[in-house]
Amino acid sequence: MNYRHAFHAGNFADVLKHLVLAQCLEHLGDKPKPYRVIDTHAGVGAYDLTGDEARRSPEWMHGIDRLLKADIPQDLRESLDPYLHVVRAMNSGESLTSYPGSPEIAARLARAEDRIHLCELHKDDSVTLDKRYARDARVKVQAMDGYRALPGLVPPREKRGLVMIDPPFEHRDEMAFMAQAAKSALERWPTGTFIFWRPLKDLWAQERFDVGLAEWLIADQGLEGEKLLRADMWVRELKEDGPLAGAGVVVVNPPFKLEERLLKLLPWLTELLAQDEDAGWRLDGCINDDSLMVDEF
Ligand SMILES: C[S@@+](CC[C@H](N)C(=O)[O-])C[C@H]1O[C@@H](n2cnc3c(N)ncnc32)[C@H](O)[C@@H]1O
Repeated sequence: MNYRHAFHAGNFADVLKHLVLAQCLEHLGDKPKPYRVIDTHAGVGAYDLTGDEARRSPEWMHGIDRLLKADIPQDLRESLDPYLHVVRAMNSGESLTSYPGSPEIAARLARAEDRIHLCELHKDDSVTLDKRYARDARVKVQAMDGYRALPGLVPPREKRGLVMIDPPFEHRDEMAFMAQAAKSALERWPTGTFIFWRPLKDLWAQERFDVGLAEWLIADQGLEGEKLLRADMWVRELKEDGPLAGAGVVVVNPPFKLEERLLKLLPWLTELLAQDEDAGWRLDGCINDDSLMVDEF
């Protein structure tokens, strides 16, 4: 349990993950019926960008800071609005000092009737999280292994909602743990929206996760191919060692507009956040072994 998200808050990987999360939440909020968010690896909820960790590793300067300073084309604003609305609401002054984690994005986009369940295994972080939402009756914090808690949390009473699985990938078998959790939760709740975050580091393990999940969902569970979406972005040449260069999400049961929106957004966002000429992105629906890493530059 050495991972500290404060070192990475607001980086390119957070930008992609959090804008997808915000899009999914916005879609869930379009209908009056309440929904539930289950965040299995919640972190501390929000991050101080002036704090020691963020100053020592200012990854946010190449992520959310570039996005906030960019001249966003008119046709992309709608896709970015829910996410940027949350970031701006936390930063009333001129400079960027705070960044929302996934719990804060959920707390700010959810309505009074929606519910948010947060699991965080790190003892101190779960205490921080609990204090942050102590007065928010919609939020429940559980200091527990999110993988172990998940089967008991799905399907939620609302029967609508989203599960976010965003582990730290400290363990070499993390991808296998995530796959196991994915299958058992999706068997219980096949209509829930699921967001799985994974780094593009060990590409063999990542591909095995994506393709394995897709095959199981489509062949065994009868999921339609269009209910599966993968969005990845890399800002430098992908390497197994060294700092993270690429990451993305697999979304099961995505909102119907997500693919179309990401198709417009990803080329622009990749160019904005690129750190060298090897940056690229990919977006594919029905994931299979023939999926290609398309470098769009
Ligand atoms: C990548 S961070 C989460 C960031 C957060 N989802 C966000 O977007 O702001 C991963 C978090 O998972 C916690 N963690 C690690 N293993 C866990 C487990 N098995 N169950 C729950 N939390 C875990 C870590 O302490 C860390 O805070």
